[in-house]
Amino acid sequence: MEIAEIDNWVNQAISAFASAQNLEELKSARLAHAGDKSPISGASRSLGTLPADERAVLGKIIGDARGKINASLEARTSALEIERDSVLLVQERVDVTLPPHRSKLGGLHPITIIKNEISDFFIGQGYSIAEGPELEAQWLNFDALNIPADHPARTMQDTFFIEPLESGLVLRTHTSPVQVRTMLAQKPPIYVICPGRTFRADELDATHTPVFHQVEGLVVDRGITMAHLKGTLDSFARKMFGDEAKTRLRPSFFPFTEPSAEVDVFFNGRWIEWGGCGMVNPKVLQSCGVDTSIFTGFAFGMGLERTLMVRHGITDMHDIVEGDLRFSAQFGSGI
Ligand code: DAH
Repeated sequence: MEIAEIDNWVNQAISAFASAQNLEELKSARLAHAGDKSPISGASRSLGTLPADERAVLGKIIGDARGKINASLEARTSALEIERDSVLLVQERVDVTLPPHRSKLGGLHPITIIKNEISDFFIGQGYSIAEGPELEAQWLNFDALNIPADHPARTMQDTFFIEPLESGLVLRTHTSPVQVRTMLAQKPPIYVICPGRTFRADELDATHTPVFHQVEGLVVDRGITMAHLKGTLDSFARKMFGDEAKTRLRPSFFPFTEPSAEVDVFFNGRWIEWGGCGMVNPKVLQSCGVDTSIFTGFAFGMGLERTLMVRHGITDMHDIVEGDLRFSAQFGSGI
């Protein structure tokens, strides 16, 4: 074995490594020039057959040669790894400044938002939420509330009657029948509100909608007076319209309350009609089985659309009913 031959192996290995263009090619070059079957490995193995003195000299030469081959292999390996990584870094680059695909969150309708606000407020005062059907018995919608048969509200122009007419059903024209349902179902003390959908045969215009919402309030307990009603309305008004709000009662008439009043709220420097209220008419209490020698009660009812319109300066009912997201989105998602 010539020393020149060994040098030649080293040179061939170094140039093969240098010409490998990627780690795959370098792997074949390594197998050929530094692997078990490479000439340098063969030479190492044949050392054992040499006499001791020759073996020492040649062993050192072969060892040096292997050292050079390995050093060259390592250098080329790390150079090719760096090259591979930098290509990958460019190829797999993520542009963190790109706008994300943001899907729109759903949102609650402003009527639902205000309904939840009102419910939260009264639940905080110890009230429960009462519910009743939208398809209501005429008897509960009118008669039990002391609304006489010839009352104008009972005409076809105002009320959606359900066919067949003998069914005795109407789309409830107000949430007040829930007062009766509640008193029939539970004994006083009663502290409930009922927010819900109501229906009247009105054309949709800037201030009317055939489908609208009310919140009814009913309290029946020992010693309830109009002062409790006034205090409740004042704190309800402050919750809805801010700390400056206050209420005023104007004498009025509702068949189911006696005395009855219209509630005005003072908001943004003026008095605005807000709803109706009164002391529950003893006739109504009695027809619901409440002992009027022990209990008295108050009730109130407000429109949610009206409350929302006043509070937010909405001038057209269409905005509330048409469901345009650009309108609703201004109230926040409410979720
Ligand atoms: N139900 C009445 C309406 O729809 C509103 C109302 C007035 C409700 C007075 C009440 C009340 O509870 O006491 O116009």
